[in-house]
Amino acid sequence: MEKMLGYFLMMAAAVVFVANGQEVITVTNGETDGRWGPLESCPPGSRANSYQSSHEANAPVVDDSALNTLILFCDDADATNITSTQGYTGSFQNVQTCPFGAYMKSFQLRVSPAGNTTDNTAVNNIRFKCSNDREINGIGNTGGYWGDYSTECVDGICGLETRVRPDGGVVVDNTALNDVRFTCCTPAHFQVKRHY
Ligand SMILES: *[C@@H]1O[C@H](CO)[C@@H](O)[C@H](O)[C@H]1NC(C)=O
Ligand SMILES: *[C@@H]1O[C@H](CO)[C@@H](O)[C@H](O)[C@H]1NC(C)=O
Repeated sequence: MEKMLGYFLMMAAAVVFVANGQEVITVTNGETDGRWGPLESCPPGSRANSYQSSHEANAPVVDDSALNTLILFCDDADATNITSTQGYTGSFQNVQTCPFGAYMKSFQLRVSPAGNTTDNTAVNNIRFKCSNDREINGIGNTGGYWGDYSTECVDGICGLETRVRPDGGVVVDNTALNDVRFTCCTPAHFQVKRHY
């Protein structure tokens, strides 16, 4: 009986980390407002090597939302971009790219935790670790604190889902991006027949 329970718990734990046979990497300091958006993935044979984010700047006495939209670029010939639910404001920062042909394998979020009596902003910044252990990091907002790095996708990041609180106008404390999670590429994702 005990053995069966142990087996059952092991299976339950496995389900948490694997959706549709794909490993999902997460961090623990995301916020919880808004709904998870659709999963978008790189075309077969490619993985994410760059990102771009939009940010609403910190202004005194204004309801800011910090990080709004996250876009990943895949390393296919078209440099396909993928995004999940987008934010609604902010300016796009420069594209950040893993150097020397490397790809993105893990991430970290800078989050201003809920309960700020001045202005809640949720996710303020994001950075990624590349397969050659370089970090890529743009200019983000500086509220809150960096959390721990996620675990690593051995074969790179292939998809993303964002959790965004929709624009609530002037009656709510807007936070835009609250959390993000990524799916890892599977070996099967790279076993595509290429036509030249
Ligand atoms: C993403 O791809 C779409 C479709 O090709 C294109 O219209 C859009 O400009 C791209 N966005 C960025 C940020 O490159
Ligand atoms: C609380 O909000 C203020 C105003 O936006 C910001 O300057 C500060 O960094 C926030 N505190 C934390 C812990 O994120």
